[in-house]
Amino acid sequence: MNTKETSYNEYISRINKEKIPCYEPSLNSKEIINLSSVIKSGWLSEKKFTRTFEKQISKICQRKYSIAFTNATSALIVGMKSLNIGKGDEVIVPSFTHSADPNSISAAGAIPKFAEVDINSMCLDLSTIKKNVSKKTKAVLYVAVYGNANELDKIEKYCQKNKIYLIVDAAAALCSTYKNKPISSYGIFAVHSFFADKTITTGEGGMLLTNNEKLSQVCNLYKHDGRKERGVDKIEKAGLNCRFTELQAAVGVAQFSKLNLFVKKKIQVYHYYKKLLSKLNDIKVFDYSNQCRAVPHRVVIFTKKKSSNLIKYLSQNGIGVRTLFMPMNRQPAYNIKKKYKNSEYLFNHGVCLPSAPVLKKKEIKFVCEKIIKFYEKNK
Ligand SMILES: Cc1ncc(COP(=O)(O)O)c(C=O)c1O
Repeated sequence: MNTKETSYNEYISRINKEKIPCYEPSLNSKEIINLSSVIKSGWLSEKKFTRTFEKQISKICQRKYSIAFTNATSALIVGMKSLNIGKGDEVIVPSFTHSADPNSISAAGAIPKFAEVDINSMCLDLSTIKKNVSKKTKAVLYVAVYGNANELDKIEKYCQKNKIYLIVDAAAALCSTYKNKPISSYGIFAVHSFFADKTITTGEGGMLLTNNEKLSQVCNLYKHDGRKERGVDKIEKAGLNCRFTELQAAVGVAQFSKLNLFVKKKIQVYHYYKKLLSKLNDIKVFDYSNQCRAVPHRVVIFTKKKSSNLIKYLSQNGIGVRTLFMPMNRQPAYNIKKKYKNSEYLFNHGVCLPSAPVLKKKEIKFVCEKIIKFYEKNK
């Protein structure tokens, strides 16, 4: 067996041992009914369900235009290419983030300029952005980390004033708001992801949202192999194929009908953890920013000492826990030696607890009891 297979098998075997998974999608007969109707129709690429799903998402995000994509990563790449962000341009991006962010900047041909995050919000703030602005700065890629946001209004104003594009990665922030506006309503464009661990899922999948008609048209060209639509012969751009499938959209529409319930449950899960862990001094449950009404992507806790031993202990007890993002600047693909102290702290001290909306109270109780027990044993 090669190393790739070994790591994958180890990963799957670890996940299979989890009695309480880190996350699990909630699917039922609604998805099956929609899926069978697509299969029976014989048309599997984008059609009616896709257009419906786009409209549903643009409505809740208060955006005029929405375009479904293979995933959020491809939506970011296409969005940036459509804004002519490319060779020689710098895009400010947090060091503490998902690989999709610097990777999409690189795929568009630009340079990811890593900025430190604010320790309290885990997001970029105005001061960290200003420290990284140069003549080459073409955009700021703001990431709503774990569904949180802070200073988005100030950042938007600053970017407008300085003719810098603000792009919002709201991959994990569906239905989260900042100052009573959907997070994905900020910026020239924003993206959502519908990967299996997101509030609603289509397996893989993404959406680009914007109010800018011209931008939506260019994105649409890039998405459809450089042409306006399937069936059109004229290729106007060196485009890509980033289309959704009708199968994904069928699942998306079914998931959307349960969105309010998932949101309510995710918030309840977060508050139940907070209640049960409130007296434990060794950890702190992450608090979302004041002006952000978040739908927690994950329940995140921070430990006083490094979190690795707690993670090991909880994993051994069948609990699906994860570290937070490893700072992207020091990943081999980027290898930037500069220290990002806050990002390192978040990585070394953070733990994602199981957070699925289907979690039962007794499962949350079990996780919290194990955390409390760990600290009793390690006084
Ligand atoms: C913050 C963030 N950005 C981007 C992505 C990438 O999304 P996708 O897998 O749909 O490309 C993710 C995925 O989890 C994410 O968490």
